[in-house]
Amino acid sequence: MAAVPLLNGSTTTSEDGFDESEKLFALDRRSKHWLCKDNIKWALLGCSLLGVTIGLSVGVAIIVVQSWQTPSNLSCLKQSSAASPITNDLDITYHIQHFNGSFLNENIYRQAASPEVDAAWEALGVNYRSVLVPQEIGEKVGLASDQVQVNEKYGGGFPANVEGLHQLHCLNLLRQSLYYNIDYYREKGEGAFQNKDHILKKHVSHCLDIIRQQLMCTVDIGVLGQVWYKNEGDEYPNAFVDFNTKHVCRNYDDIRKWAEEHQLPDEVPEDYLQPPRPGDRIYEGVP
Ligand SMILES: *[C@@H]1O[C@H](CO)[C@@H](O)[C@H](O)[C@H]1NC(C)=O
Repeated sequence: MAAVPLLNGSTTTSEDGFDESEKLFALDRRSKHWLCKDNIKWALLGCSLLGVTIGLSVGVAIIVVQSWQTPSNLSCLKQSSAASPITNDLDITYHIQHFNGSFLNENIYRQAASPEVDAAWEALGVNYRSVLVPQEIGEKVGLASDQVQVNEKYGGGFPANVEGLHQLHCLNLLRQSLYYNIDYYREKGEGAFQNKDHILKKHVSHCLDIIRQQLMCTVDIGVLGQVWYKNEGDEYPNAFVDFNTKHVCRNYDDIRKWAEEHQLPDEVPEDYLQPPRPGDRIYEGVP
C-alpha cells in the first residue's frame, strides 16, 4: 500500500543520528545564548536612546514649525494695523474683556446728557489736542513730507491725531446729536455746536460714516447667542439676545495715556506751523 512508506518516512530519525527534536533544541539553545542578559540590556539602551533622540527631534521640529505658524503680536499688528508712532513707545497687548451689553441698565456713557456723562466721555480722551509725531518717523507712519509740519524753530514734526481717539470723538458727537440730547448741547454751544447747523450736519454725517467704515474694516466675527428670560407675571419665558459677550481687546488706556502725553502745547505761537514750501500740495478745498 502506498500510504505506509510515507507514514514511515515521517517518523524515522535522521541519518546523522540526531533526532529532529534534538536539532530544534540545539537551535533554541543558540538563540538563548544570543539573547543573553547583557545583549538585551544593550539593545534596550540603544532603543531608548533612539527613542529619546527621535522624540527630541520631533519636539524641536514641532516647536520650530509652531513658531513659524503662530505669528508674534508684533507681526499680527503689522498685518492688522497701519504703522503707528505709538508702537515705538509701548506694546500693544491683548486681553479678554466682557462687554457690557445690558439692554435696560444704562451705564454712564449712555445716560441722558449731563456734566457727569460729559466728564466720563472726556476721560476717554475724546477731546485731546493733536499729538506731535517726530519728523524722522513721519514717513514710516504714513505722513508725507508735504503734510503740515511744526515750524523748525519750534522743533518740527507733524501734528497728528490718533485715529481711534478721533473715532471715539465722532461717536461722542453722534451721542450729543441724538434727538433727546441735541437741545442740551445746542444750548451749551461748545465744540461742534459752535458751527452753523449745515456745518454741524456735515460734521455729524462725517462722523457717522467714519464709524461705519471702521466697524466694517475690523468687522467683528464673534456671535451673539440668546437667553431665556421671564418678566414678572409672564407665564412662559421669552428669548432675548445676550449682548454680554467676551472680546479680545487692546490696551485702550495705555494708548489713551500715550495720546494724552504727546499732545501739542495748549498755547502755541502764531508762527507755530511751518508755511507750505514751494511744490507742496495745496488742496482746492477741504478733502
Ligand atoms: C452693565 O452696566 C450696568 C450699568 O452700569 C450694570 O447695572 C450692569 O450690572 C452691567 N452688566 C454687566 C453684565 O456687567
